[in-house]
Amino acid sequence: MLTENLGVNSAGHLTIGGVDTVNLAKEYGTPLYVMDEDLLRANCRKFKKSIDDYYDGEGLVCYASKVFCCRAVCKIAIEEKIGLDVASEGELYTAISVGFPMDKICFHGNNKTDDELTLALSHGVGHIIVDNITELERLDRIARKIHKKANIMFRVKPGIDAHTHSFIQTGQIDSKFGLALETGEAFEAVKTAISLENVNLKGLHCHIGSQIFEIEPFELAAKVMLEFIAKIKNELGFEIRELDLGGGFGIKYLEEHNPPEYDEYMKRVSVVVNRECKALGINRPFILIEPGRSIAGPAGITLYTAGAVKTIPNIRTYVSVNGGMTDNPRYILYQAEYEALVANKANEEKTERVTLAGKCCESGDLIGENMPIQKVEPGDIIAVLATGAYNYSMSSNYNRVPKPPVVMVKGGKTRVAVKRETLEDIIRNDVV
Ligand code: LLP
Repeated sequence: MLTENLGVNSAGHLTIGGVDTVNLAKEYGTPLYVMDEDLLRANCRKFKKSIDDYYDGEGLVCYASKVFCCRAVCKIAIEEKIGLDVASEGELYTAISVGFPMDKICFHGNNKTDDELTLALSHGVGHIIVDNITELERLDRIARKIHKKANIMFRVKPGIDAHTHSFIQTGQIDSKFGLALETGEAFEAVKTAISLENVNLKGLHCHIGSQIFEIEPFELAAKVMLEFIAKIKNELGFEIRELDLGGGFGIKYLEEHNPPEYDEYMKRVSVVVNRECKALGINRPFILIEPGRSIAGPAGITLYTAGAVKTIPNIRTYVSVNGGMTDNPRYILYQAEYEALVANKANEEKTERVTLAGKCCESGDLIGENMPIQKVEPGDIIAVLATGAYNYSMSSNYNRVPKPPVVMVKGGKTRVAVKRETLEDIIRNDVV
């Protein structure tokens, strides 16, 4: 099976965290997101242990909540003693609602509103990642007005090409995110920040992309950032005390994917960090990382019920499911690939290739094309694997389709973490 938490029981049904997925579909209905809380927590712990080990406890893992944000997952992050990366007031508000420790929050965004900055300042968010000079000046002004000091980092583009899908490359110079190093823009921003009264420049941040399998781009980014920290020290006499290296570690979506172990990334990057700090004569900054996909992605699956099976001779077979781009827009956006299987025939051979289609009025509404799968009949339960990241969080109500619930599996027990949307929810904000 794709991930270690999946199995097949004596009934020939797919299990997740030891729980029968066909029973889950019966009990909670489909479409259904299922999250294996044990695996999610284990992934949090792996990252936390690596950062504790390799940086002598001088670091913090901030789960990138954009991949899957709800109150339950924020509570899990608190319990696992990790921090949170939030990128909007909605994500920040979710964290606030469960009493998240604000010193462990990184607040991102390339165009934060005054309301968002005010919310972050008034709650004492520990790390506001400032994206640009306009934002820096606005933040300083708002902080003065409400008598707060803003703890900030700058988002820097280290200019690394991270060999991934071009939509999700963000470290290179042509990006809407952050300040460029090459042009001197980042250096100027640092100079300005040091002179401002209501901001406290603590650190620098970079994020080079997502679903990256190579370790070298991370090593290179760390090196470039540390060189910049040394330049700031040498030329401005100012010490940058924190370095956030972002997220981006790839996960296994298909059998043939072979991402490095998380610990391997962490170890190799820490070797570069420790070596460069010595060579550059700077104190090692406090290190933050923001893994998202690698924490939640492998922990989730989506269950659907198969409807029409339509074979177009010599062309392909479409299997329509009762969800689609509304709960998983990653195929239509990025041609992302997934593995699927018939949950109630999990012990059978995958003898067919089908195109899984969603139910929206949109030809591109597919979960995947020509996917190897068991013979599908209407009423079968289809499981799509590794959907724990960027699925629920990117879901929509297109065609006024209600969003599926999220059920958590822990120690063989299940609970609803997010309720299924109802038709009432769909019309809740309509005014006639
Ligand atoms: N930190 C920052 C500043 C980010 O922008 C991101 C992701 C992360 C951390 C987490 O990256 P991860 O560890 O999950 O790769 N929607 C796309 C991915 C967009 C990535 C956005 N930023 C997808 O579904 O593939």
